[in-house]
Amino acid sequence: MDGFDPRTSFGYEESRRYDATDTRGDEPETVAFLARLAAGRDALEFAVGTGRIALPLIRAGVRVDGIEQSQDMVDRLREKPGGQDLQVTLGDMSSAGTGRTYGLVYLVYNTIGNVITQDGQVRCFANAARHLAEDGVFVLECRMPTSPARPGRQFVEAQHIAVGQVVLEAGRYDPVTQVLDQTHIHISADGIDLRPLSLRLAFPPEFDLMARLAGLRLRDRWGGWTGEPYTSTSWRHVSVYEHS
Ligand SMILES: C[S@@+](CC[C@H](N)C(=O)[O-])C[C@H]1O[C@@H](n2cnc3c(N)ncnc32)[C@H](O)[C@@H]1O
Repeated sequence: MDGFDPRTSFGYEESRRYDATDTRGDEPETVAFLARLAAGRDALEFAVGTGRIALPLIRAGVRVDGIEQSQDMVDRLREKPGGQDLQVTLGDMSSAGTGRTYGLVYLVYNTIGNVITQDGQVRCFANAARHLAEDGVFVLECRMPTSPARPGRQFVEAQHIAVGQVVLEAGRYDPVTQVLDQTHIHISADGIDLRPLSLRLAFPPEFDLMARLAGLRLRDRWGGWTGEPYTSTSWRHVSVYEHS
């Protein structure tokens, strides 16, 4: 997207809005799944954000560290109860290191897509593998791409219509780069507010190849956090990788 910089897409304004708009309602199941896999070992969250998952996971008894690119998101995390209790390394999850290994590394909420090149995503898998203990697991949760199948690979959707406000989502997918450029457009009497985001979309088999390049292999794949089978109609996947 012209003018889009993935390093600044979660800046001050987005960090202030994040917890109000980006809570998904599946946090308890996510935390139960991750706590079970951690099995008493320490965990590392790539792109820890405001601690939507890390904080309840800590409350469930897991020691969690984080890597995060946005100082603003980390500032919001630090303001929350328990937000001082985890070590966060500020940097890019495809290269930054914490200097140790973990029983669980996880990357959820489609955030692999925030790395908008294939090379970057490959490096992200390699960095996850570097942080995994010998018997550790890397958990990736991501939506299945739908934009490639849209007519003309583009769309405008009315996400919310109220008397005083309309929220539209406009998107265009480029099959060459596999990048979806999308913008949430908030229109109200206060004016027009644009919230742009670019995401690189990939289907699970491409992620499995990235895992192989990193010396990992797929151990399990689910259609959700509660052990739903992964099928041709799954809208997302929860993939668990281990050292091969
Ligand atoms: C959708 S939020 C997810 C936050 C958190 N994992 C959650 O589930 O609520 C995406 C987060 O990824 C961070 N991020 C995006 N690209 C990153 C990168 N290359 N390295 C580290 N963090 C990144 C953003 O700053 C933002 O905090």
